[in-house]
Amino acid sequence: MAKKVRIGIVGTGFAGRFHVESMRQVHGVDIQIAGVTSLREESRVAFGAKHGIPVFPDVRSMLGSVDAVDICSPPYAHHEAMEQAAAAGVHIICEKPLTGYFGPEGCGDEYRGDRDSKAAMLDRVVGRLRSLSEIIRRAGVSFGYAENFVYAPAIQKEREIVEKTGAQILRMTGEESHNGSGSPVYGIWRFQGGGSLMGKICHPLSAMLYLKRVEGLARGGKPIRPKTVTARTEQITRLPAYRDMGFIRTEYHDTEDHGWMHVTFEDGTVADAISGEIVLGGIYNYVEIFANNHRTRCNLSPVDILETFNPRGSQFADVYTVEKISTKEGWTSISPDENITLGYIPEMQDFLACISQGKKPQSDFELAADTISAIYAAYLSDERRGAEVAIPLA
Ligand SMILES: NC(=O)c1ccc[n+]([C@@H]2O[C@H](COP(=O)([O-])OP(=O)(O)OC[C@H]3O[C@@H](n4cnc5c(N)ncnc54)[C@H](O)[C@@H]3O)[C@@H](O)[C@H]2O)c1
Repeated sequence: MAKKVRIGIVGTGFAGRFHVESMRQVHGVDIQIAGVTSLREESRVAFGAKHGIPVFPDVRSMLGSVDAVDICSPPYAHHEAMEQAAAAGVHIICEKPLTGYFGPEGCGDEYRGDRDSKAAMLDRVVGRLRSLSEIIRRAGVSFGYAENFVYAPAIQKEREIVEKTGAQILRMTGEESHNGSGSPVYGIWRFQGGGSLMGKICHPLSAMLYLKRVEGLARGGKPIRPKTVTARTEQITRLPAYRDMGFIRTEYHDTEDHGWMHVTFEDGTVADAISGEIVLGGIYNYVEIFANNHRTRCNLSPVDILETFNPRGSQFADVYTVEKISTKEGWTSISPDENITLGYIPEMQDFLACISQGKKPQSDFELAADTISAIYAAYLSDERRGAEVAIPLA
């Protein structure tokens, strides 16, 4: 019989909140949110009180009271929490991006990731991915990569089309952009491991890597994996010519605010991903698939099942519309429930069901690792002003 899964949340910011909301919508799995921790006592105590969850001072002290951790801390803190969980035999759910390079140990504000060697970063990151993979494999714990794009209903419908029609995906285009993260440590390499590529492109990139994997498994029983990347990044809000009119977040310390990646796969087909912190009008998330037998546009945001005209913004003070829309006036394509359309509830459903039944989730370690290898290979390509770089698979 499937047993109860006790989960501990790590991080009480934006992601911690929607993970708890989404977990509470999971059905058919007996779960209990049995602990929460984060860096600042004041915020973890407030979060615990608000959501009725026992509070722990750190990850280690929580591990004895949970079966799984759900890591929603900034990227620099993911690796240590995963190692601690695996060592204690605790299952892992980890937010994107899986891990990265965060500068030399103990570095401070003077560190500038944008000026550091990208070849050395790629080497270190691939080494970290290999050791993490080994630690998780040896511990025998379940691993769920919280890449919500994979679970968005639009992407899952495309998965069904690819599987049932034997489609060959020839090219894809995907994007995640908006007007800037709300996290206070975003834009700082030593906390994030990079900028738009790490924070945003990872989403459509993983979705596209996932779909090629689905295609390979459906037709030949073997995933089709990424092979090379060509990339460019920019720091547009830091250009001397940039004119700040107050609608777009600025203040990035040492990271890019716009990026593009062109990925080739083992079978010679291609995917292009774009990301940016310089896009107004709410989060702009899509993946378009051009196959040999169909074409699909997966709209994750905006979606167009509800269009509302509001002549006065203040009327909607208590009405949530769309993430990062910045105004509630005029026409808005409202998302009735982003936790569904963006895939947050379905991802928790899959992870928790897999933990409880001992199965492998759709979004797993290999997908997470391929995404990170491709991103750091992209930083190296950018450093070489767009030269093609092989993606070392961990
Ligand atoms: N899937 C998505 O759509 C999505 C959206 C936003 C963020 N994220 C991801 O979620 C993670 C968190 O992002 P966020 O926007 O919630 O950040 P945030 O800054 O709002 O919150 C981070 C939380 O982690 C805590 N924290 C920091 N260092 C810690 C440590 N060493 N140990 C324990 N807790 C620590 C902080 O105290 C804070 O509570 C990131 O990996 C980010 O990429 C994913």
